[in-house]
Amino acid sequence: MEINLRPWNISDLDNLVKFGNNFKIASNLTDTFPYPLTYEAGTNFITKVSADSPAKVFAVVFNGDAIGSIGLFPQSDIFKKNAELGYWIAEPYWGKGIATKAILLIVDYGFKTFDLTRIFARPFGSNRASAKALEKAGFSLEARLKNTIFKNGVFQDELIFGILNH
Ligand SMILES: CC(C)(COP(=O)(O)OP(=O)(O)OC[C@H]1O[C@@H](n2cnc3c(N)ncnc32)[C@H](O)[C@@H]1OP(=O)(O)O)[C@@H](O)C(=O)NCCC(=O)NCCS
Repeated sequence: MEINLRPWNISDLDNLVKFGNNFKIASNLTDTFPYPLTYEAGTNFITKVSADSPAKVFAVVFNGDAIGSIGLFPQSDIFKKNAELGYWIAEPYWGKGIATKAILLIVDYGFKTFDLTRIFARPFGSNRASAKALEKAGFSLEARLKNTIFKNGVFQDELIFGILNH
């Protein structure tokens, strides 16, 4: 299984909309990830992230096709040595270890490319698959905040997972 990351390109738009337009994916992300995901929103996303240099958001590529997205969001002010990690994988490809591999690749890239000491992710308390992928990629559970998230009309705990640059 060949998994790699490459910057998003407008030629990936069809795959982005085909796979990203999924309620189960949007339900586990912040409200800035829209559902439904339109071609217009997809075009804006690719235009925005492909302007970053160095790149921060990548397509997760399986056998040459974009089948997910993963990105780092460096923080500012006193948190500037930290970056938040976010990702999703297309539903037909779940449970094959692809997120775990993509997380390992972007952590390596992030620590090499940016001046970071810590990368963190904040899955919802109900998101067992994401927590497991983070653990398999070497992240530790740092905290569980009670009911900080309100998504689709339901309160959820926020899990904080982190990995340090040794
Ligand atoms: C979370 C997500 C990225 C995981 O992608 P993936 O490629 O399936 O992840 P992996 O296969 O690397 O690892 C997932 C692990 O969780 C396990 N898992 C899946 N669903 C589970 C569940 N309901 N309960 C317990 N474990 C579960 C899988 O079996 C796998 O573990 P294994 O390798 O030991 O079998 C994918 O489900 C997704 O895109 N979800 C919607 C968006 C999202 O949640 N993004 C993350 C926000 S923090």
